[in-house]
Amino acid sequence: MGVIRKPKLTEIVAMKQLLDQAANDGQVLSRQLAEMFENARDFHVYVTDDGVAGLVALHIDLIDLAEVRSLVVRHGMRGHGIGRQLVTAAVAEARQLEISRVYTFTRIPAFFSGLGFQAVDRAELPYKAFKDCLKCPLFPGCDETALLKDLGE
Ligand SMILES: CC(C)(COP(=O)(O)OP(=O)(O)OC[C@H]1O[C@@H](n2cnc3c(N)ncnc32)[C@H](O)[C@@H]1OP(=O)(O)O)[C@@H](O)C(=O)NCCC(=O)NCCS
Repeated sequence: MGVIRKPKLTEIVAMKQLLDQAANDGQVLSRQLAEMFENARDFHVYVTDDGVAGLVALHIDLIDLAEVRSLVVRHGMRGHGIGRQLVTAAVAEARQLEISRVYTFTRIPAFFSGLGFQAVDRAELPYKAFKDCLKCPLFPGCDETALLKDLGE
């Protein structure tokens, strides 16, 4: 049993290790350690007595738009609702900030559909949403789906 909260800076290295494992499996984009410190306030973590077991980031793009990204739950702890709780925490933070739309790029659209995200044509997202694509190894042959959740409804 763990808790979801904002991370301590001393947890960023463990968060990067989790992210790197998933990046090696081709499931998320890797992030530089410096970038993770710069964006430390984007994150929520799921923490147990054994340390960080999950993370997610809410990254603000524009006055009305933010990205849910860097979602990972530790192997062996998946399938227990932690991923769902992490995304819910990120979306709650977006609501608190009065951000009206959150989006994600993913290869598991069904996971996000279950959380109220809807598939959209990526052309519906402003150019800023593609900022990571240019440095992604998959560019331009990306097989991810863009999904959007409208919080203004
Ligand atoms: C994706 C991930 C974060 C899900 O975390 P989790 O804690 O296992 O997910 P949950 O237990 O909260 O699952 C919530 C729901 O999503 C479903 N789900 C979980 N993983 C799924 C997947 N890969 N594809 C489709 N649906 C999925 C579950 O069945 C569950 O549905 P239910 O509520 O109807 O039972 C986790 O599998 C992971 O870390 N994967 C590797 C990294 C990754 O792919 N990140 C996403 C990048 S966009």
